[in-house]
Amino acid sequence: MPILPILHYPDPRLRRVCVAVERFDDALRELIASMAETMYDAPGVGLAAPQVGEAIRLLVYDPRRDDDDGDDGDDDDAVEPPRAVINPEILQREGSVVGEEGCLSVPHFYGDVARAARIVVRFQDGEGTVHEEAHEGLTARILQHEIDHLDGVVFLDRMSALKRDILKRKIKKAAKAGEYTLTA
Ligand code: NI
Repeated sequence: MPILPILHYPDPRLRRVCVAVERFDDALRELIASMAETMYDAPGVGLAAPQVGEAIRLLVYDPRRDDDDGDDGDDDDAVEPPRAVINPEILQREGSVVGEEGCLSVPHFYGDVARAARIVVRFQDGEGTVHEEAHEGLTARILQHEIDHLDGVVFLDRMSALKRDILKRKIKKAAKAGEYTLTA
């Protein structure tokens, strides 16, 4: 599977509101496999389809990072493949927790973002089967971050205005200095 180029902020394609996936076919499963490989290669813990230029409601994430919810202590967590989450819908949000986030589309920059501490999410897998799951900890954060991408939202948008402006200035400066790559 090919490694896909990742779009970098402020690429306007990251601002599109993505459309629902309707066909659960081999082409979709190939895209999922390529996205998973791209995510691990980066390396990252989550990747949304718009980040690789596909404006559809699909994301992949690394469940091995899921060390703070539902871990049964078995080592089989370590071999679980990346998971595809399609047409996700957050049904419930509870609590709030601030944590540092980064993004493969904003490489080398990080910022604090408040997210719901616990979520219930309904989604489809690569076969179209519907799942409903509760998540907390890092997985809840990853899912909220990646689902935001499907609506054209990046984590910078969720930061305080002051911290966001500082980070945007730093990115501009880094881009000018050739230390931050803009997508063509
Ligand atoms: Ni991201």
